[in-house]
Amino acid sequence: MTVTIVGSQLGDEGKGALVDLWGGDADVVARYQGGDNAGHTVVEDGDEYKLSLVPSGAVRDKVGVLGNGCVVNPKTLFSEIDELRDRGLDPDVRVARRAHVIMPYHRVLDGIEEEAKSDSDLDAGTTGRGIGPTYEDKAGRRGIRIGDLLDPEVLRDRLEYVVPQKRALAEDVFGIQAGEAFDIDAIYEEYRAIGERLERESMTVNAGAFLASHVDAGESVLFEGAQGTSIDIDHGIYPYVTSSNPTAGGAATGTGVGPTVVGRGEVVGIVKAYLSRVGTGPLPTELTGDDEDLADCIREKGGEFGTVTGRPRRIGWLDVPMLRHAARANGITSLAVNHIDVLAGLDEVKVGHSYDLDGEELLSMPATTERWGRCEPNLREFEPWPEVDWAAVAAEGYESIPENAREYLDYLVEEVGAPIYAVGVGPDRAQTIELQNPFEQ
Ligand code: GDP
Ligand code: IMO
Ligand code: MG
Repeated sequence: MTVTIVGSQLGDEGKGALVDLWGGDADVVARYQGGDNAGHTVVEDGDEYKLSLVPSGAVRDKVGVLGNGCVVNPKTLFSEIDELRDRGLDPDVRVARRAHVIMPYHRVLDGIEEEAKSDSDLDAGTTGRGIGPTYEDKAGRRGIRIGDLLDPEVLRDRLEYVVPQKRALAEDVFGIQAGEAFDIDAIYEEYRAIGERLERESMTVNAGAFLASHVDAGESVLFEGAQGTSIDIDHGIYPYVTSSNPTAGGAATGTGVGPTVVGRGEVVGIVKAYLSRVGTGPLPTELTGDDEDLADCIREKGGEFGTVTGRPRRIGWLDVPMLRHAARANGITSLAVNHIDVLAGLDEVKVGHSYDLDGEELLSMPATTERWGRCEPNLREFEPWPEVDWAAVAAEGYESIPENAREYLDYLVEEVGAPIYAVGVGPDRAQTIELQNPFEQ
């Protein structure tokens, strides 16, 4: 049995909270794309964990796998593991030998290219973690994989091919002084030592075979998506996207288990009850102008500041065409809706029900970002719900959620065409109301 957790919007929907909740019933939790651009929050009895690379199942002592579709900064990986150990956990993380390594020059080039693009407003507002440049090298067949760190000769050969190109790119194209991040010998020494630690701690695996053996043994695997559908490189708002496939198909290509295995399980779309966006690009339901105070209020209450970068997130009403798009692109079988508590006590609650584009009503997202940027949302208003004691609501269950909020949830079920399995009324594990456990079908 597998369960795939995907972000239905623009990332930061609260995926970590659900991976944590249902990870308790999984044997293995596997990430299938992205890298340390992710920031997943798990809160257990008031203790907060912010994870960017280690799968969120680590908090539940589950085996964590970083699949071949991930890009791995080993320094982040080790520092997160060490931090979790300092907090008394014993994370068991395995890394695919096929996963690509984020190298020091990738991070530098990420920053340089964002800077260059900003003149023409094409910068995506990246997390600066080197994600895009690493995936570029993967597609360009000049990347360095985790397995290469284990073999000194291969590592040396790969570096000797690629580093002079990167140095020339930095110096001759972008005109910056290339430093240590572009020095073959320095990189070789550092990454050989990393390879040795990975080997010493038996951390590398053939991820597809490893996961298949767990599935074949009848165990449960949870696939933890990072980012969200609208920042998927294929299905998102290109070019303001990340460079991987957060959508559910990525769970197959990014781990090496077949799509039939993923498809036999549940695909849970995680929804934030409104929108938040840390990067650039259009956002039709964004709260701006006269609604700025409302945006500030939601931002403060929801703690909407980037987990990775600390940037204040842009805020908008829920965008229902975006959810319809996510339902199709992921084959969503169920939903988890978070942050109902954050909208409580507002004077008004709205959603973007559809778009108006050149006089035509659209129920889903157009395929080009330029057209999406011209969409005017047709807003639908809901009766607001009051502020209540959410801890008590969480303890009592679904029926104690204020009626107007339940009407909002019923509307989503109807429009997206999938049932709700969980509702988040606060960040703590105990503040997620479970209606159905996806592992228990
Ligand atoms: P992820 O990237 O999808 O895992 O989400 P993040 O962890 O980046 O952002 C979600 C934030 O909202 C975190 O601070 C969570 O602790 C918090 N959170 C998750 N679910 C809820 C919820 O239902 N209500 C509230 N108030 N906060 C939540
Ligand atoms: P989680 O897993 C929200 C955004 C960045 C930028 C774009 C490209 O916590 O939901 P990148 O560094 O990936 O090349 O940046 O994608 N972005 C995220 N936004 N949540 C995330 O992850 C994100 N990861 C990347 O802000 O717009
Ligand atoms: Mg996040």
